[in-house]
Amino acid sequence: MKNHDIVEKNIGWMIFFIIIAISFGALVEIVPQFFTKANYTPLPGQKPLTALELEGRDIYIREGCHVCHTQMVRPLRAEVERYGHYSMAEESVYEHPFLWGSKRTGPDLARVGGRFSDEWQRAHLYNPRSVVPESIMPAYPWLFDNVVTGNYTARKMEALRLVGVPYTDEDIANASKPFAGGKVKEIDALVAYLQQLGTLVTQKR
Ligand code: HEC
Repeated sequence: MKNHDIVEKNIGWMIFFIIIAISFGALVEIVPQFFTKANYTPLPGQKPLTALELEGRDIYIREGCHVCHTQMVRPLRAEVERYGHYSMAEESVYEHPFLWGSKRTGPDLARVGGRFSDEWQRAHLYNPRSVVPESIMPAYPWLFDNVVTGNYTARKMEALRLVGVPYTDEDIANASKPFAGGKVKEIDALVAYLQQLGTLVTQKR
């Protein structure tokens, strides 16, 4: 019996060699990325999210927006023509956890910042059907009532700083200031977050 026949007829060996083959692929594809400095060097002018945007990001996660929306434009012609410049690793250096996603029920949002007005975003989130009649996206009317207290914003920034996001002591000391007086609604934070998405890299869409 040839060696190859042994592998083909013995599922144990088959699994073993398949794992070896796949791990080799991972080694070649993934490991060099860790040593490519450009992948983790922030772009010029790249700043961590402001207190308001940071709260908006947490609302985005809480509401499960990432379950239907990816935040990663792949370097394929169809994607770049539709969404703009493909996503770059550097853009995610301050993202913990990242929200790239892999399944799109709705469009990719990696470059949605500035594509629509604040008014459009608010109307769309209040009731998507009011601006996109055929939309299947859920409505989020409670975001217009819920107030952002900012009680935990400083602690969130501290936690992010631990993993390398360069928030300054001043940022942390002033973290809850924008929310004083209870006037900031969740919708304000979420729209502020959406409007900055992908705006660091601008290319004509
Ligand atoms: C059940 C899946 C689903 C969920 C959950 C969802 N969306 Fe959507 N979203 C869609 C679909 C489908 C569209 C396309 C139709 C439309 O524009 O309403 C869309 C469109 C959008 C658009 C317009 C993008 C463009 O380029 O046209 C934005 C912005 C958006 N969603 C933001 C959000 C935010 C923020 C949340 C969380 C609060 C969210 N979505 C949750 C399905 C979803």
